[in-house]
Amino acid sequence: MSTTYTIDTATSRATPTPAPMKRLTIPAIRARKGREPLVMLTAYTVRMAQLLDPHCDLLLVGDSLGQVIYGLPSTIPVTLEMMAAHGAAVVRGSYHAVVVIDMPFGSYETSPEVAFESAAYLLKETGAAAVKLEGGAAMAPTVRFLVERGIPVMGHIGLTPQAVNILGGYGARGRTQAEATKILDDARAIDQAGAFGIVIEGVVEPIAVEATRTIDCPTIGIGASAQCDGQVLVIDDMLGMFDRTPRFVKRFDDLAGRISAAVQTYADEVRSRAFPGPEQTYAPKD
Ligand code: KIV
Repeated sequence: MSTTYTIDTATSRATPTPAPMKRLTIPAIRARKGREPLVMLTAYTVRMAQLLDPHCDLLLVGDSLGQVIYGLPSTIPVTLEMMAAHGAAVVRGSYHAVVVIDMPFGSYETSPEVAFESAAYLLKETGAAAVKLEGGAAMAPTVRFLVERGIPVMGHIGLTPQAVNILGGYGARGRTQAEATKILDDARAIDQAGAFGIVIEGVVEPIAVEATRTIDCPTIGIGASAQCDGQVLVIDDMLGMFDRTPRFVKRFDDLAGRISAAVQTYADEVRSRAFPGPEQTYAPKD
């Protein structure tokens, strides 16, 4: 029984009536290969989804929410239930972008059947259109299994954060010939398995360019190349919510600084009794 997602035919943001605009579709995203770059950002909450939706083609409910929202040390402890709750919020807050939900570590690796159950749960609970999973050639049979059963899949290769314990850190991949060859093989395998797009994360630029040139589905770069078919960033990173950001992140704002300044002003006004003022208090009726 769904607890996080209910269709209200009068007001649902997933299928609002009347529809303010048509939600983008997976075939429309696929058709953007080699055309206008795809704009993708992560979103985890309803209000942020509302703000990002008009500007984005894709919203990713990334398992980066483990660190960004929950303060966890990595994405590994993230659960299906966490993804479902935030996924439902993002769908409720959007009606234009395609919403993609990350499959968390441990929810899809053991077999294609387990992956199908997890992906079906996420789509039913949230109303999202697609899932994303990490991994290269080894995950290709799973990608094919899901796609053939009606679940659109976005791949994620190169630096795959769920494999941090194998990789030994979050450094860029593909610096040796062997690694470069493996990443390109992974891109081809996931593409041929039917993924509608592939995130290429943290790789040396020529690999991202070569993968983009040689596979059929759009590539979405993060720490990859401007030549990819689209770009994705973690929203809190690009808004400047953290003191330290990885090299590949451009800070488009200093939201942490601006929040801090606003809260300092609030604290000063509370302490000086300047807030609340007459505009924020209720006068008795005459
Ligand atoms: O979890 C996430 O936010 C991601 C993006 C960084 C691609 O996978």
